[in-house]
Amino acid sequence: MDRNLAASFRAARRLFPVTEKRRNITYFNSASTGPLSKPVKKALYDYYELTQYLEKSAIDRDAFAALDNIRSLGAGILGAAENEVGFGFSTTFGLNIAAFGLPLKKGDEVLLSDVEFPANVYPWLALRQNGIKVKMVKSVDKHFDIEIFKKSIGPKTRCLSLSFVQFFNGYKNDLEEIGKICRRKGLYFVVDGIQGCGVEAIDVKKCRIDIFSSGAQKWMLSPLGTGLFYVRKDLQKKIKMPFASWLGVDWKLNFSDLFHYDLPFFESARRFEMGTYPYAHVFAAKAALEMIATLGVKNIQRHNHELLDILIEYLQESGFYRVVSSLEEKHRSSILSFTCPEAKDIYKELVKARIIASFREGAIRISPHLFNDRNDISRLIQILKKAQGF
Ligand SMILES: Cc1ncc(COP(=O)(O)O)c(C=O)c1O
Repeated sequence: MDRNLAASFRAARRLFPVTEKRRNITYFNSASTGPLSKPVKKALYDYYELTQYLEKSAIDRDAFAALDNIRSLGAGILGAAENEVGFGFSTTFGLNIAAFGLPLKKGDEVLLSDVEFPANVYPWLALRQNGIKVKMVKSVDKHFDIEIFKKSIGPKTRCLSLSFVQFFNGYKNDLEEIGKICRRKGLYFVVDGIQGCGVEAIDVKKCRIDIFSSGAQKWMLSPLGTGLFYVRKDLQKKIKMPFASWLGVDWKLNFSDLFHYDLPFFESARRFEMGTYPYAHVFAAKAALEMIATLGVKNIQRHNHELLDILIEYLQESGFYRVVSSLEEKHRSSILSFTCPEAKDIYKELVKARIIASFREGAIRISPHLFNDRNDISRLIQILKKAQGF
């Protein structure tokens, strides 16, 4: 990494209170929740300060400008056009646009992976009320397998909904290859992007994704209750409105003349956004996305993978720990999981040492982000070495 870039990462680290020495915390858990940075907290506080004495309407203009920024920053992160991206509240939000908006009918079939996070399962299971079938594609070694997927496609299959990165082992799906198959077979391709969005490079066009959804509370380092969704432009008018909002039409910020019921919905993904916006979170999400965009997703990805390389080398040489994540370059992500005989006990040792990680499916899950550095990894390795002796 060149010097200027390394300096930018060091400067970014200083913006995260979780990295302050006095807290004695080493945070490797962005796959669970991203910690808030000072600019994000400032955005929240500034809004709360203002809203004590200013009416909401006085802030509307700034908030709507911030929403435009979010859509545009989101488009940059996803490789989409600005009019294809909307502000959502969670991953679930966009997945529901897909499940209840796509023109699926009785007897149609939706494919999911059998190792999905439940957020990408329940919206589809709810479609059973409309006579739509949900079929799980069997995983191999706990990851989605393209050959089995191909064999699972039947005459009634209309859609595949899949994670960008699997939450428990960090397996990054080959979305480009899978997208090609979906397009060839005429399937809608929906992606739960939360475990990669903002941290693993993606191009929704190259991957031929129809709908992509991601909460921003993890890798995008934004507060809970914020997110992005993408709906491919030429699909926007074909899908049913799963819900409809008075803010899905253009008031041109004039909220004093509201008896117009004939306004058309926006000609953009914004038509799917919902009701009055949580302004504090809008300003915060903008600040968070600006940081990601400034450092650049590709640079963040490289930074994280380089940190994980050090850990992988130690784990492999330890003769005790076993990496369960795929180490094949195209399937690697910013999540690394490993295990060992008493993995749960070792995990407890990490908790005692104030190393924040997760325990998922029998493995310790480490998820470094832009604010972590080599010292954090050394600290982790030190504790793992000690724990090996227990
Ligand atoms: C793959 C995946 N999808 C979705 C979610 C969460 O969904 P939502 O943002 O709707 O709460 C998580 C984790 O919380 C996840 O790991």
